Amino acid sequence: VKNNYDKIAKSYDFLSKLVFGNSQKQAQINQLKYIKDFDRILIVGGGTGWIFDEISALNIKHLDITYVEISKEMILLSKKRNIIGAKVIFINDAVENCNFDQSFDIILTPFLFDNFLQDKVKVVFKLLNSNLKLNGKWFFVDFNLSSNLNSYWQKILLQLMYLFFAKIASVEADKLLDVKTYFKSDFLIIEERFYYGNFIVANVYEKIV
Ligand SMILES: C[S@@+](CC[C@H](N)C(=O)[O-])C[C@H]1O[C@@H](n2cnc3c(N)ncnc32)[C@H](O)[C@@H]1O
Repeated sequence: VKNNYDKIAKSYDFLSKLVFGNSQKQAQINQLKYIKDFDRILIVGGGTGWIFDEISALNIKHLDITYVEISKEMILLSKKRNIIGAKVIFINDAVENCNFDQSFDIILTPFLFDNFLQDKVKVVFKLLNSNLKLNGKWFFVDFNLSSNLNSYWQKILLQLMYLFFAKIASVEADKLLDVKTYFKSDFLIIEERFYYGNFIVANVYEKIV
């Protein structure tokens, strides 16, 4: 099975912290301020579900969250979280296999697209875009290769990560693809932030078409 994080699920958050400190989390936490009461939210590839602790802390009410994770172990860990102010539906499947019966106000894809080959990027982008409401927001967080002086160590670190995740989680991708272009025609960038020396990019997109 490709992109299988089961083996690494229990140590994922520890490894993220070891390599990136709090940057991977901070990039995601900063975007949560755009969530409002009664929002319908789709989280894809949420990992251990640590983000539920952060969403609960916001004190927002009546959220309706759909949580899609391909990894069984990640789903098990996520279900153990104490979730306040939200109703959550867990779906243990690849997002490309999902049919959603209602569209969402907010979609989160944190460090999801870096796992995919071009064909899957296309399919998943299209599927998620068609399930996001007009004026809905897409919280996109992923690695970013900038062309500045830092990009040398970034390229090496990225290659090391792809090697590691290919071995441990059978991640299918072996390089970072340009996902930003997909957002060009239908979206506005509401907020763009960089973390860890530009290596991580966090965009809040608003759907305008
Ligand atoms: C790099 S991890 C990021 C985890 C989490 N977002 C975080 O930042 O801590 C990617 C996650 O996406 C999940 N994933 C990969 N491919 C997926 C797919 N096609 N559908 C749903 N989840 C997927 C993996 O199981 C893994 O938990």
